[in-house]
Amino acid sequence: MKYILRSLLRSTGYDIFRVKFQTHENCEYSTITPYASYSPWLNDTNFQSVYQIVKANTLVDVYRCYELWQTVAQSQHVEGDILEVGVWRGGTGCLIAKQAPNKTVYLCDTFEGVVKAGENDSGYTGGEHADTSQNIVNKLADTLNVKNISILKGIFPEETGHKIKSKKFSFCHIDVDTYQSARDTFDWVWPKLSTGGIVIFDDYGFYNCAGVTKIVNEERGKPNRIVLHNLNGHGIIIKI
Ligand SMILES: C[S@@+](CC[C@H](N)C(=O)[O-])C[C@H]1O[C@@H](n2cnc3c(N)ncnc32)[C@H](O)[C@@H]1O
Repeated sequence: MKYILRSLLRSTGYDIFRVKFQTHENCEYSTITPYASYSPWLNDTNFQSVYQIVKANTLVDVYRCYELWQTVAQSQHVEGDILEVGVWRGGTGCLIAKQAPNKTVYLCDTFEGVVKAGENDSGYTGGEHADTSQNIVNKLADTLNVKNISILKGIFPEETGHKIKSKKFSFCHIDVDTYQSARDTFDWVWPKLSTGGIVIFDDYGFYNCAGVTKIVNEERGKPNRIVLHNLNGHGIIIKI
């Protein structure tokens, strides 16, 4: 009944189920309910065997975790290693590492919480997500029998980027919550990203991470890249 009513209303161009609820600096935010229902993560047994272990160590939902799982697999033949900035308790980082056993996955975090919050950020003020440690990440990696991670503790890129500055990268997951951390990470990794490489920004479109939406939108229209807005909360940039 609800779907018939919705279809009828939509044919008039009006949808009462679309609730506009917030605006931030000319960005509109509303509830988003895609109509597609294909859910391949439910019967992907390889993914599920890893996800059921990492889910207690991640803030990232299954939709985004599955996109990381699939995009890492598709970029395995692109030259270079993998970078994640914003590791927290290691959930997404170890999921990525499990999917890319032939690459080194550099996991970069302050392990003292979010940094570089500023005027472009709508929700974060600094210091959030400090409830973690390198030991927690190492324990998760051991549980998964993951051997290909390298943890770099400190503010990225200023305090740890020099340790991997000569590397090339095929994939980068940026999950840092603030505009300036995301901007500094992207500007650092972009020249080192191989053609065909992928950068995924977590929190794109989240109301409390307006800075992440801003930086991804700033990249749209620049040369040699495709910028994708995924409704699951990922901003994706592919180098072409
Ligand atoms: C939302 S958490 C990451 C979540 C994680 N990917 C997961 O699977 O749940 C954000 C992390 O980014 C880290 N962070 C933010 N800016 C950073 C920076 N410039 N350098 C290093 N770590 C940073 C914080 O310490 C925090 O642990």
